[in-house]
Amino acid sequence: MRIDVLTLFPEMFVSPLGYSIIQRAIQRKIIQVELTNIRDFSEGNYNKVDDKPYGGGPGMVMTPGPVFKCLEHVQKQTPAAGRVIALTPQGKPLKQSLVAELGKEQRLILIAGRYEGFDERIIEGLGCEQISIGDYVLSGGELAAMVIIDAVTRLQQGALGDDVSSADESFSDGLLEYPQYTRPEDFRGMKVPEILLSGDHAKIADWRKKQSLEKTKKIRPDLLK
Ligand code: ADE
Repeated sequence: MRIDVLTLFPEMFVSPLGYSIIQRAIQRKIIQVELTNIRDFSEGNYNKVDDKPYGGGPGMVMTPGPVFKCLEHVQKQTPAAGRVIALTPQGKPLKQSLVAELGKEQRLILIAGRYEGFDERIIEGLGCEQISIGDYVLSGGELAAMVIIDAVTRLQQGALGDDVSSADESFSDGLLEYPQYTRPEDFRGMKVPEILLSGDHAKIADWRKKQSLEKTKKIRPDLLK
């Protein structure tokens, strides 16, 4: 899968892409991440990419020209136009089901905005989808783009290691994951539930399912609706 990110701050991605599962997925060519600086497509002498909002108001708005040119430039690089997504707090909320859908794409193009937001013609003119990672406002779309890259990468075949699957994780069946334990069997008086030591796989599966349900009811009842 190829993931393009259009951003004013490509350097922000270096560290999150450089460790652990994502680093390995890039090395193994499971994913390819291409960072393109929107400022390289700015117009005029001052490398300007933003301007004051018409109608007044605080802050600056990203102008459409550089974003359009930047997107046209990256789309030309492969025959697949890609699924184009702008990261905004107004977007569709990111859930595991949407992550799973995005994970099946050949190519994602993530546009990270800064300042007070995008000129609406960027969203309308590019016909792009908007995704939000939660009901709070970030200083820009970069962290949201990283969240998508991370969540989508771990679903790619081979990304978690050859024999590990993401199928059991929280949200994969609409529930929170059951509690996990490892050694020691007794830690400061807190014991691993007896059933997990029993070796009875059917009973363990049953227990885990019940734990998942109980945990979800208690912590995230909204998921059960
Ligand atoms: N940009 C600013 N806030 C955001 C959010 N919550 N989700 C996605 N992109 C954003």
